[in-house]
Amino acid sequence: MLPLKDRGFNHRNASEITPRHWFEDRRALLMGLAGAAAVGGLAARAGAQPAARLAALPGVRSSVPGALTMDKPTSLSDITHYNNFYEFGTDKSDPAQNAGSLKPRPWAVAIEGEVRKPFTLDLDALMKLAPMEDRIYRHRCVEGWSMVIPWVGFSLAELIKRAEPTGNAKYVQFVTLADPKQMPGLSSPVLDWPYVEGLRMDEAMHPLAMLAFGVYGEVLPNQNGAPVRMVLPWKYGFKSAKTIVRIRFVATQPKTSWNQAAPNEYGFYSNVNPKVDHPRWSQATERRIGDGGLFAKRRPTLLFNGYEPQVGQLYAGMDLKRYF
Ligand code: MTE
Repeated sequence: MLPLKDRGFNHRNASEITPRHWFEDRRALLMGLAGAAAVGGLAARAGAQPAARLAALPGVRSSVPGALTMDKPTSLSDITHYNNFYEFGTDKSDPAQNAGSLKPRPWAVAIEGEVRKPFTLDLDALMKLAPMEDRIYRHRCVEGWSMVIPWVGFSLAELIKRAEPTGNAKYVQFVTLADPKQMPGLSSPVLDWPYVEGLRMDEAMHPLAMLAFGVYGEVLPNQNGAPVRMVLPWKYGFKSAKTIVRIRFVATQPKTSWNQAAPNEYGFYSNVNPKVDHPRWSQATERRIGDGGLFAKRRPTLLFNGYEPQVGQLYAGMDLKRYF
C-alpha cells in the first residue's frame, strides 16, 4: 500500500499451513472457552507458535450480532508472520522479526479532548472495563488479501461510555506509540509518525468496533499491535490502529496517516467496497491467506467485507464513491 512505487504490493507467499485442528479450535471458541487451561490448549493446537508462549487471555463467546463469522480461521502462524506494522519495517515478515523491542508493559492509554473529564487508564484498568469476548472477524487488507482472525477484547463503545464525550465530540482519533527506541521503522519517512487513525462517532460506537487485547486466546503478540489495538472488520485493515496510547474525542474529522500520505488512494472512511477500486488495483476480489498460494482461486470481496447487515445503516444515503 505504499504510495511510493508499489513497494508494499508485492504479494509475498505467506506460509500456507492449514492448521490441522482448526475445526476443533473454532468449536472450542464457539463454545466459549471454559477457562485458561482450555485457552492454552486451544492456542497450542493452532498451528505453528510464535517463539515464546504468551499469557492466556480467556474470553466469553461474543453475543454481538455478526461477531462470530463461520469462515475457517487463519493459522496462528500466518496471523503472526504476515503483518503490516510499518513502525517495525515495511515487509510482511519485518514485524515478527523486529517487534521484540516493543515493551507492551507498563502501558497507559490517555482519554482526552471533548470528554467531561480527561483521564488515563493503565493497561490493567483498561482491560477490566468490560468482560473479554472471543470474536472471529474477517480481515480484508486494501492490498487484496484477507484472513479470518479470532480476537479477544470488547467493544470500543464500553470505553466511550466511560469517557463521557461531550456534545461536541463528532469523531474519535487513535494516536499510537512513536518511540524510536522501541520502533526501528520510525527512522523511515514512509509515513508521518505517530500512526494516527480516526472514526466518526457513530462508527466508533458500533458494537463490532473492537478494542483487541488478544488473539487465539492469548495476549496480542507484539507484531499484531500489543498491548491494545482497534479492529474494524468492515473497513480495510489500515483503519485498525495498533499500539494505541491516546484516544482523542474531537469536533472535526481528524487526520489519518494513510490519507495524509496519499489522499487520492486512501480516504477517511476506507470501507471495504468491491465497486470502488483503489487507483492502482481492483478491489473486486481477494486472496484468502492459507487458501493454497498464489494459484488458489480468488474470492469475491463483499460490500463492507460482508458486514453490511450490521453496519450498512451507518452509511445510508452516502455516496460511497465520493466518501471512499
Ligand atoms: N497500526 C500501526 N500503528 N502501524 C501500522 O503500520 N498497519 C495497518 C494496521 N494498523 C499499521 C497499523 C495495516 S495496513 C493493517 S492491514 C493492519 O494493521 C494489520 O494488522 P495485522 O498485522 O494484525 O493483521
